[in-house]
Amino acid sequence: MLEKIKALQDEIKNAVTSTMEEVEELRIKYISKKGSISQLFDDFKNVPAEQKKDIGKAINDLKCFALEKINVLKEKFESAVDSESGTDLTKPGEPIKLGTRHPLSLVRNEIINIFGRLGFTVAEGPEIEDDWHVFSALNFAPEHPARDMQDTFFIEKNPDVLLRTHTSSVQIRVMERTQPPIRAIFPGRVFRNEAISARSHCIFHQIEGLYVDENVSFADMKQTLLHFAREFFGENTQIRLRPSYFPFTEPSAEMDVSCSICGGKGCNICKYSGWLEILGCGMVDPNVLDACNIDSKKYTGFAFGMGIERIAMLRYGIKDIRHFFENDIRFLKQFESAI
Ligand code: PHE
Repeated sequence: MLEKIKALQDEIKNAVTSTMEEVEELRIKYISKKGSISQLFDDFKNVPAEQKKDIGKAINDLKCFALEKINVLKEKFESAVDSESGTDLTKPGEPIKLGTRHPLSLVRNEIINIFGRLGFTVAEGPEIEDDWHVFSALNFAPEHPARDMQDTFFIEKNPDVLLRTHTSSVQIRVMERTQPPIRAIFPGRVFRNEAISARSHCIFHQIEGLYVDENVSFADMKQTLLHFAREFFGENTQIRLRPSYFPFTEPSAEMDVSCSICGGKGCNICKYSGWLEILGCGMVDPNVLDACNIDSKKYTGFAFGMGIERIAMLRYGIKDIRHFFENDIRFLKQFESAI
């Protein structure tokens, strides 16, 4: 047996090939399923036990040797240079530089996917809105300060043409045209008349969620938001709801998640509280349902809204909100590996 192995080894060593097909023939002859080396493995069964160790090693060495030789021969043809043009036609082409997704799109898509798996569909509405959809239908009192020029951008001094200050306007548009059950989220750009700084901008993005049906409870909202927090920030994430106020929800709350940076121990991102505030939420005020011709005696619902910039800043450790709008290539390039 050892002699046979030695003979095969010499044969392989001296083999010469002049085309890729010949290399393939060689491969078939020696290492394919029916090749001579595979045959040796079959014969190995009959080798007496005391020789098994030496012969086994010899066959393995032979196989490695044959693989190596075939690879070397293959490479020779693969790197063949086209004799006429002098270019290597088998070389892979220059990689094409792909663009990157904007971090806000990455975070928005991830949130849409999480709620999508719970059955929420996506809807959009206009950025230039009227008073009814942004304020009145949402139960804002006529003198509410948000209606002031200081907070809202009005277009052409007409108080009924304005840039939406939140995506809650899309809730109204959807409820006006659909009867429950409604389960949808609304991503979009919003505008507020604020001084631009590292923490706030006059343009930013929100995602709003709305669920209206019979018997929708505060517990449903809590569980939905807990599920979202765990999917997005990790399975050990805790949430807490703090009482708050929005004209369009009653009761209203603000939701914090346990700080994903320090795990709740306290760090400079969570200002040593262990908690990060990420969204506003609450049960849809019956006045809002009535304004949209949805029977508030029959139906209840919950709504929530969050700023995409804030969540992206937490996710990627971005300290200045202005980065999102400057489109500095050095900033955007850092999201190359993300999908
Ligand atoms: N629209 C609120 C905001 O802009 C967020 C919110 C949405 C709160 C839905 C409760 C319910 O701050």
